[in-house]
Amino acid sequence: MQSYSINGVICDASEAKVPVNDHGFLYGDGVFEGLRFYNGRILKLRAHLKRLVDSAKALRIQLPMSAGKLEEALLEVVAASTHTDGYLRLIVTRGVGPLGIDPSHCEAGSVVIIADQLKMVSEEARDKGARLIISSVRQLAGDQLDSRIKSLNYLTQIMAKMEANVARADEAVVLNQSGYVAEGSADNIFIVTGDTLETPPVTDGALDGITRGLILEIAKNLSIPVRERSLTTYDLYIADECFLTGTGAELIPVREISDRQLSNTPGPIYSRIREQFHRELQNDAWFD
Ligand SMILES: Cc1ncc(COP(=O)(O)O)c(C=O)c1O
Repeated sequence: MQSYSINGVICDASEAKVPVNDHGFLYGDGVFEGLRFYNGRILKLRAHLKRLVDSAKALRIQLPMSAGKLEEALLEVVAASTHTDGYLRLIVTRGVGPLGIDPSHCEAGSVVIIADQLKMVSEEARDKGARLIISSVRQLAGDQLDSRIKSLNYLTQIMAKMEANVARADEAVVLNQSGYVAEGSADNIFIVTGDTLETPPVTDGALDGITRGLILEIAKNLSIPVRERSLTTYDLYIADECFLTGTGAELIPVREISDRQLSNTPGPIYSRIREQFHRELQNDAWFD
């Protein structure tokens, strides 16, 4: 069952409301985070809060609660949840203001937290590998809307995901304005080339994924060579392995990219990393 908090107060679904003249609703003017809790503890809580604070700063949104209060509110929602494992959505809106995009007269924003279950792909895709397409919708450039800002504007990602749906694929790869691979519609992308784990630098148009960071850390600890470099679709097509990572996605192996089959799914490097990921979920340092 879901649980909710509005501005730090736990409430029922029927009371979980924001005003329709909040600019978060009117213009997508706000920021958010997706977090996961395992065994009642939130994975990389501080890192998520730091990213939220940074996103808000970039958009000059005044957070209506301190990071400490946000942390308390998140933990209360987890405690109110009937599940010990689940997904959290934390949203901070610009706030109520007059019609018109000008944010300068907005009041303090709303803080919404929802705890729920989230399943991004079918069990079959998770076990045997997901099918990807390359989206025709390009990521906005860094001087338009920097992909590191986790804003309430997700239309690029939504349009990419709709293309995947039409193609009956599980996920879409989004390219940047120069045609290099940026990320998936709601996840970061990794490939294995020979013995090396590769992923695009976030400056190629990806969210600086928290799971991405954990995977890079695991790979280094397992002495798997890692390289961050710009990737083309060709690199994906000929990859030895490919997988997606994200808070919602966790780890998803990939078996097909735009009708090119990958021979190794789930591949040996993916399997080692996944095993270590699940082992590390017992590691207190991951829940700071
Ligand atoms: C566009 C996009 N890229 C990547 C990710 C993965 O980031 P994280 O691992 O921090 O959840 C997400 C997940 O929220 C996302 O929405």
